[in-house]
Amino acid sequence: MIRDATPEDWPAIWPFFHRIVRAGETFTYPVDLAADTARDWWLLTAPNRTVVAVDEDGTVLGTAKMNNNQWGNGAHIASASFMVDPDRTGRGTGRALCEHALQWARQQGFHAMQFNAVVATNAPAVHLYESLGFRVLGTVPEGFRHPVHGPVGLHIMHRPL
Ligand SMILES: CC(C)(COP(=O)(O)OP(=O)(O)OC[C@H]1O[C@@H](n2cnc3c(N)ncnc32)[C@H](O)[C@@H]1OP(=O)(O)O)[C@@H](O)C(=O)NCCC(=O)NCCS
Repeated sequence: MIRDATPEDWPAIWPFFHRIVRAGETFTYPVDLAADTARDWWLLTAPNRTVVAVDEDGTVLGTAKMNNNQWGNGAHIASASFMVDPDRTGRGTGRALCEHALQWARQQGFHAMQFNAVVATNAPAVHLYESLGFRVLGTVPEGFRHPVHGPVGLHIMHRPL
C-alpha cells in the first residue's frame, strides 16, 4: 500500500535512507547528511508530496517524494526521488512507487517528469525508469564520483506525460 508519509514515519524511513545516502552510490546528497536536514529535504508538503510504501503489517518498505522540478516557467515539469530499503528491494516496491509518482504528476497537470541525476551505474534505477517510458536525454560526463567505480556519468532522464 502506498500512502502519504507523516512525520511519525521518519523513524522508520531514516535507517534505510541513512544507509543509502551514506553508501554514496546513488544520490548526490552529502554522505554525512544529518537526520534533521534529511527529514526537512525529504518530507514535502502540499502541493508536493511524499509517500511511503508499506507492507501488510505496516512495515515501511520504501519512500518517494514528488515535486516540481523547477519554479516559474519551468514548473510544469515534475520530478521525483525513490528509496527502497536495501533489505527489501526486488519485490516491486520501486516500480509501484514510480508508477504512483507518474500518476500523481498526471493528476497534478504536469507535462512531463524529469530526473536530474541518475547515476549511470545504478542499473536497477536506469532499468526501472526505462521500463516505465523514461529515456536518457543526456549524460553529464564524469558527473558523479562513485566510491567504487570512480568518475561515472550522471543521466538526465525524461518522460512526457
Ligand atoms: C532503485 C530502487 C528504487 C528500485 O527499488 P526496487 O524495490 O528494488 O524495485 P523493483 O523491485 O520494482 O525492481 C525494479 C527493476 O529493477 C530490476 N533490477 C534489479 N536489479 C537490477 C540490476 N542489477 N540490473 C538491472 N535491473 C535490475 C528489477 O528486475 C526490476 O525490473 P523488472 O520489474 O523489469 O524485473 C531501489 O533499488 C533503491 O532504492 N535503490 C537505492 C536508491 C536509488 O538508487 N534510488 C533511485 C535514485 S535515481
